[in-house]
Amino acid sequence: MKLIDFGVREDEKKYIEEWSKESNIEVKIVSDLLTPETVQLAKGYDGIVAYQQLPYDEKIFDTMNEYGIHVLSLRNVGVDNVPFAALKKNQIRLTNVPSYSPEAIAEYSVTGLMALLRNLKHMIRKVDQHDFQWAPDIGRELNQLTVGVAGTGRIGRAAIKIYQGFGAKVIAYDKFHNPELEKEGLYVDDLDTLLKESDVVTLHIPSLGKGNTLINSKSISEMKDNAIVINTARGDLINTKDLYDAVASGKLYGAVLDVYEKEVGVFNSDLSDQEFSDEVLDKVIKSPRFILTPHIAFYTTKAVKNMATVSLNAMVSELKTGASENEIDLGK
Ligand code: COI
Repeated sequence: MKLIDFGVREDEKKYIEEWSKESNIEVKIVSDLLTPETVQLAKGYDGIVAYQQLPYDEKIFDTMNEYGIHVLSLRNVGVDNVPFAALKKNQIRLTNVPSYSPEAIAEYSVTGLMALLRNLKHMIRKVDQHDFQWAPDIGRELNQLTVGVAGTGRIGRAAIKIYQGFGAKVIAYDKFHNPELEKEGLYVDDLDTLLKESDVVTLHIPSLGKGNTLINSKSISEMKDNAIVINTARGDLINTKDLYDAVASGKLYGAVLDVYEKEVGVFNSDLSDQEFSDEVLDKVIKSPRFILTPHIAFYTTKAVKNMATVSLNAMVSELKTGASENEIDLGK
């Protein structure tokens, strides 16, 4: 069996190499993303592993079919950039890594929140200028707040545990109720109630697609005054301009954004010597009430290792047995 792994970053390499040595399976490591051009490197390989934020071009899958490659294994969880119809047309199966480290994302939600509640961005900027005054950066305590967790999958449940550990009152919303959380009585009936009753709303749901947002001027008007939004999930869940305006007007306290609706091509790139043309993002970066980071909630040694190795294990299972527990249902 010969595998090829696309879009591999330096920090992932050693885990792939270790896996390859231990499993005695050849893995060609390619730093380029998977495109209609680079897919040609896969000729003669049995399966393709990849991670990228850019959409996977449909033509890739015609070429895979032509080369007799029928499995694409993703090193990440999100499949919103994969054209399912093109995979089905070419009889290609898809796997992902659904649980590389729910704790990494959940811990980051609280990390960002704590930074915001204690006004760390502003305080650190002041100290950098040798301004050591306390005011106006008086903090707020998490143990006095109600945290609304939207989405109670693996990440949402990990977040609930952490927030409860800090003494916050936690409420939750999900279409599907987890029996344990149900017993604890954490669920509210609908999203509107979650938004109305929370001091902090942390998002742990997939993209809604088709331009639909969860946080926008309408839903923000339902939220408590001085509330906080945390997004470590998908940028397009939020209309960032509406959110910025709500913080600037004083309706909301602030936000922790680890994802952004126009992050592709920006996050994880060094643009320090380039003209910056995204006005909304620029305002968010400058505001002390926004903790903005470039999609790093997942970025821990544990998660990166799991992404590298679980994706390869899923591929092996697909190639040996025709199935794997991480196979995505592509629908009819
Ligand atoms: C995903 O796994 O889909 C993520 O959002 C993390 C990604 C940046 C590797």
